[in-house]
Amino acid sequence: MKLFIQGVAIAFGLGLAMASTTARADGTVEVLHWWTSGGEAKAVGELKKSFETQGGTWIDSPIAGGGGDAAMTALRARVVAGNPPTAVQLKGPGIQEWAKEGVLNNVNDVATKEGWDAVLPPVLAGIMKYEGKYVAAPVNIHRVDWFWANPAVLAKAGITGMPTTWDEFNADAEKLKAAGITPLAHGGQPWQDATVFETVVLGVGGADFYRKALVDLDQKALTSDTMVKSFDELRKLRSYVDPNFSGRDWNLATAMVMNGQAGFQIMGDWAKGEFLAAGKKPGVDFVCAPTPGKGFILNSDSFTFFKVSGQERLKGQTVLASLIMSPAFQETFNLAKGSIPARTDVPLDKFDSCALKSHEDLLAAVKDNSLVPSMAHEMAVSRSVRGEFLDLVTNFFNSDMSSADAVKALAKAVKRAQQP
Ligand code: BGC
Repeated sequence: MKLFIQGVAIAFGLGLAMASTTARADGTVEVLHWWTSGGEAKAVGELKKSFETQGGTWIDSPIAGGGGDAAMTALRARVVAGNPPTAVQLKGPGIQEWAKEGVLNNVNDVATKEGWDAVLPPVLAGIMKYEGKYVAAPVNIHRVDWFWANPAVLAKAGITGMPTTWDEFNADAEKLKAAGITPLAHGGQPWQDATVFETVVLGVGGADFYRKALVDLDQKALTSDTMVKSFDELRKLRSYVDPNFSGRDWNLATAMVMNGQAGFQIMGDWAKGEFLAAGKKPGVDFVCAPTPGKGFILNSDSFTFFKVSGQERLKGQTVLASLIMSPAFQETFNLAKGSIPARTDVPLDKFDSCALKSHEDLLAAVKDNSLVPSMAHEMAVSRSVRGEFLDLVTNFFNSDMSSADAVKALAKAVKRAQQP
């Protein structure tokens, strides 16, 4: 309720802001996004700067809250009020859900003119289109299944390399614990719990199992022994977080690794944006390594264009779409964001070793079919099904529910959310 009111208030506030904006020949965009942490703000700042350099007017609508749940609530309020933003950070099946409601504009003329089909991985191009037309433009490819660690802290606990199995991770965590260091920096928010959960599911079950359970929502997979084992590992991870984890923002958890309070964080590579924004060097001040398990959990940010009227805003959408997809912008933005470009033809020579590893593993995962979409980051299932996953996983994390009970409750909740 609070979020809804906040959303409506923002809607009105921005309405006034827009009314007082002088019309510009090069378009106006009001951009709703949730990029408010240090690294995120720097990255979206690049987009704003480029848009303004082209003579456009940028109205910023940030809605704080990692993972975007608060932003999505605000978006709903804006659309219901008949005052949608021009462009919204939105992704995965959510794009299709909004398109079906008939509230999106397409930018297909730009996409055709610029040949987007030829430079985007088909899996991303498909997500950006509704009825064959582009209604969104992708900015990046984020990988979810990463460990971030502080090498000096690991060394203090006698850990010499990054863990490659969950058993190894558990053993390292015990060493950190014994050295009086929090093994796992974590923020107890449903989307962060789900981020860790899906990473564990990939590691315990592999990509085919992940797909069956978290994408196809197969009841057998959801209630399988492999899923029980995944919850068992999640229970272990719960014992490695500090007592103040509840409600903590993800970037504060990253800061715990940065300043030596914790050994590891499990988080997508937007965490790298935080390290970089703080002037830290990969391989020196922090290290990255894929979490155990063969595969790549895909999360891609994109901007979706809502139905707005007026020449100036329509122009704004066209200019923004073209800018987002320009190779120069994809390079600058992703260097700050921690991700890699969505376009396949952007040179990666300025990117660091974590980004190159991501790129290499992405290609390998496409080849051996171990690329899977993120459930936690809205790439895999509808919002209602994702909501059930988040509720259950968080509930499990914050109680002493058994793994056996968790799988039963999860399978039931997912089934319920799938009913029309
Ligand atoms: C988004 C990232 C963002 C992260 C934390 C993810 O869902 O894809 O761009 O940095 O949430 O807010």
